Amino acid sequence: MCGIVAYIGKKEAYPILIKGLKRLEYRGYDSAGIALLSGGNVNLYKKQGKVANLEEFATGKDISGHSGIGHTRWATHGLPNDINSHPHTSMDGKIALIHNGIIENYDSIKEELISRGYIFKSETDTEVLVHLIDDIQKHEKVDLVEAVRLALQSVIGAYAIVVLSKEFPNQLVAARKSSPLVVGIGAEGDFYLASDATPIIEYTKQVVYLDDEEIAVVDLKEGLKIINIKNQVKAPYIQELEMHLEALEKGGYEHFMLKEIHEQPRSIKDCFRGRLNAEKGWVSLGGLKDYQQKIMNSKRLVMVACGTSWHACQVGEYLIEDLARINVEVEYASEFRYRNPIINEDDIVIAVSQSGETADTMAALELAKSKGATILGICNVVGSSISRITDAGSYTHAGPEIGVASTKAFTAQVTVLTLMALSLANRKGTLSSSKFHTMLSELEAIPDKVQRILDKNDLIEEIAKVYKDASNALYLGRGSSFPVALEGALKLKEISYIHAEGYPAAEMKHGPIALIDEEMPVFVIATKGTSYEKVVSNIQEVKARKGKIIAIVTEGDVQVRDLADHVIEIPDTDEHLVPLLATIPLQLLSYHISVMRGCNVDQPRNLAKSVTVE
Ligand code: F6R
Repeated sequence: MCGIVAYIGKKEAYPILIKGLKRLEYRGYDSAGIALLSGGNVNLYKKQGKVANLEEFATGKDISGHSGIGHTRWATHGLPNDINSHPHTSMDGKIALIHNGIIENYDSIKEELISRGYIFKSETDTEVLVHLIDDIQKHEKVDLVEAVRLALQSVIGAYAIVVLSKEFPNQLVAARKSSPLVVGIGAEGDFYLASDATPIIEYTKQVVYLDDEEIAVVDLKEGLKIINIKNQVKAPYIQELEMHLEALEKGGYEHFMLKEIHEQPRSIKDCFRGRLNAEKGWVSLGGLKDYQQKIMNSKRLVMVACGTSWHACQVGEYLIEDLARINVEVEYASEFRYRNPIINEDDIVIAVSQSGETADTMAALELAKSKGATILGICNVVGSSISRITDAGSYTHAGPEIGVASTKAFTAQVTVLTLMALSLANRKGTLSSSKFHTMLSELEAIPDKVQRILDKNDLIEEIAKVYKDASNALYLGRGSSFPVALEGALKLKEISYIHAEGYPAAEMKHGPIALIDEEMPVFVIATKGTSYEKVVSNIQEVKARKGKIIAIVTEGDVQVRDLADHVIEIPDTDEHLVPLLATIPLQLLSYHISVMRGCNVDQPRNLAKSVTVE
C-alpha cells in the first residue's frame, strides 16, 4: 500500500522515478508525486490519480535533478487529492518526505506542532513527520539523519520513509518499520530506494532489505550507512536479486492479470520444481525440512492469512487434515491478532501471503512468536518481511504478480500446501504408498491440464458475454471446492464490481436460495468426487427456482450438462487437486466480465496489492 521510490547519483532522477512509480502503481493509485533536488531547490510535482496524470502535469516543467523521491498513494488519511499527495514538505520547502504506512499518534504530534506555529496543508498523517523532523533539526541543531532518528522515536505506527533535504544535497535518509524498504546499490556510486525491488532491478541487482527500525543513509561521498533508531551501527547485508525484468512487463498481453492467468502452467511447475519427483516417489519442501518432525508432532497447525491467501489456506486445511490427519485451523489474520487467541508453545503458526508484507498477517505472526509458537511462512516475494521474521518457510516461486487481483499466487500457494500435505502424509504413513505415488503423478500433470483449460478461453469469453450485466452472482462448491467458490466470488467482485458471494453448496438452502431468480447466475463447481451427487441435487434446487447455472464439470460429464445453462469442462484429476484446475475458468470468467464492463482490470478501484496498513 503506497509505493515509494527514490534515487541519488549521477543520472537524471526523474525518468527513474516515473518508471519506478509505474512499476509500483499496483500498491496504490489514488495520487502520485515527485520531489526533485535541482539547482539548490526542491521542486515538487503532485497530482491526483495515476502516475500518467503526474507525468502529463510535469511535462514542460523543470524535471532536472540527480536526486529525487517519488510516491504513489493509496489514501488512508485524507481524500485522494493533489494536496494530500506525497511528497510533503517542510514549511520553508527545504525538506521533502514520502511515506508508506500509518502514523497512529499523528493527532497528538500535530496538536503539539500547531501550538508551536506549524501550519498544516494536508489532512494526512504523514505531514506531521516532515514538520517534526524540521522542528527537531532547528531546535536541537542536529543534522538530517539525527533529526530523522529522533523524530522516529516519537512515532507510533508503521512507516517506510525517504527524506530529501536541500541542506544535505548529497544524501537521502530512509527508514522503515512494518512497511517494506529496499536499498539498491548502483555500480556508479549511486543509490536507489523503493518499496520493493521492481523499480530497482533494471539498474542493479545488489540490494539491502532494511529491517524494522533501521535507518539507511545513502550518501554520494560516504556510501551506504545503516543505523537503527537507537543509533547502533548495522552492517549492511547485501543480497543479489534473482528477479528478471521480463517478469515485470506485460509480454504482449493486454493486462497483467491475463498474463498472470496464462503463466500458471509455468508458475505451478516452478513451484514444484526440485520439490517433487513422481518417478522416484519423492516430495520435499527444503525450507521446511528442519521443522517437518515438529509439524508432524504438533497438535494443530494454525494458518493465518487475508483475502485470496486465506482461501488458499482453506484449501490447505482440507488437504492437510484429510491426507496427513493433522488438525488445521484457518484464521483471518486481522481477527486472530485481536481476539486474544489461545496460542501454545507447541503450536505451529503458518502465514500465507503473496506479498509477504500484509500488515495483519505480520502482526498475527508477531503475536504467535511472542507466545512462543513456531512461526512459518509461505510467501511469494523473496526477502519480504514475513519471509524474514519467520523461523522457516517455503517460497511459492510464482514470479512477480503485478495485477492487483491475485491469480497465479493463489495456485502457487495451493501447490505448496499440497506438497506439504503430501510430504507430511507420506512421513506419517497416513496415505497408502500407491495413493501417494498416484497423487504425485497427478500433481506433475497439473500444469498441462491447466493449459488445456486456458485453451478454452474462447468458450469462457462467450459465457462471460451472457453474464456481464449481472448485478449479483452466487458461487457454490463443496469440500475443497468451497474455498474455490469463495475465491471465484472474490475475483468477480473485486475486478468487475458485481456483488458476488461464495457458499458451501449445501448452505444455499439456509438463506441464499431466497436470492435466486431468473436473473441470478450461479457458478457451481460440480466435478467428479465424493460430493458430486449432492452438488447435483443443489443444482436441481437452483434450477427449480429458475437460476442460471454455469457449472465447472469433469470432462465427459453428462448429468450436469443436462441441467446447466453452460458447462466448462476441466480435465479429470485426483479430487484433492481439483482446486488447482477449477479456479482457472473462474479467473478467466472474472477477467472477461471485467474487460467487457470497461473496468480497470489490473488496478480495480479502491484496492491496492500490498496491504501494509491494518
Ligand atoms: C485478492 C487479493 C487480496 C490478497 C490479500 C492478501 O485478489 O489479492 O485479497 O490476497 O490482500 O495479500 P497477501 O497474499 O499479499 O498477504
